[in-house]
Amino acid sequence: MIIAIDGPAGSGKSTVSKLLAEKLGFLYLDTGAMYRALTLKVIREKIDSRDEKKIESIAAGLNFRFQDGRVFLDNEDVTQAIRAPQIDKNISDVCKIKKVREYIVALARKIARNYSCVTEGRDTTTVIFPAAEFKFYLDADYKVRAERRYGELSAKGINISREEVAADLKRRDEADMSRTVGPLKKSADAQVIDTTAFSIDEVVRILAEKITSA
Ligand code: DC
Repeated sequence: MIIAIDGPAGSGKSTVSKLLAEKLGFLYLDTGAMYRALTLKVIREKIDSRDEKKIESIAAGLNFRFQDGRVFLDNEDVTQAIRAPQIDKNISDVCKIKKVREYIVALARKIARNYSCVTEGRDTTTVIFPAAEFKFYLDADYKVRAERRYGELSAKGINISREEVAADLKRRDEADMSRTVGPLKKSADAQVIDTTAFSIDEVVRILAEKITSA
């Protein structure tokens, strides 16, 4: 079974997906982690982030797996390494390459053949798993999303103002929605859940109920 969750930054989709996967005993298929692992390899091999051909060939042979909640690249646990700021700086060049997206999509589908999954990422309901049994689009009021993001960053000790966070979120919303390859779109058959008034745990409970009662 595939449960695909999409939504804009700050909608809570990553946390919700992870917790929902745990609750249901499913694999958390984090497509962002796949792009992050690829970007890590590109950086480690000192490939120019504009060298599309080389990046494509790395994507084609990517040795990647999820295991016990960890992320492995070439049999090395890179769960921490893929969260480094350097990855965030370079990842958009990698993500926008059409062929790279095709390889990652194919890899995600291959993984999903062997496991029941909760998957999330910007194009999971539309491109990667258009036939997923359950599709949810988590949304929340822009101000609430900005506040959540601010809370997350502050909790990590990152010194940033509310205004900067809100401006950054606005930029990300626009970039996510206007990207020509794999843009963020509400799938017509996704159940839209407005999480503005709910805590993460409440959202997980709502989704789990929808799945188990269907
Ligand atoms: O969700 P995240 O922050 O780990 O995602 C990392 C990057 O990967 C982010 O810049 C968006 C991109 N991404 C994507 O283009 N398509 C996906 N399905 C998942 C993530």
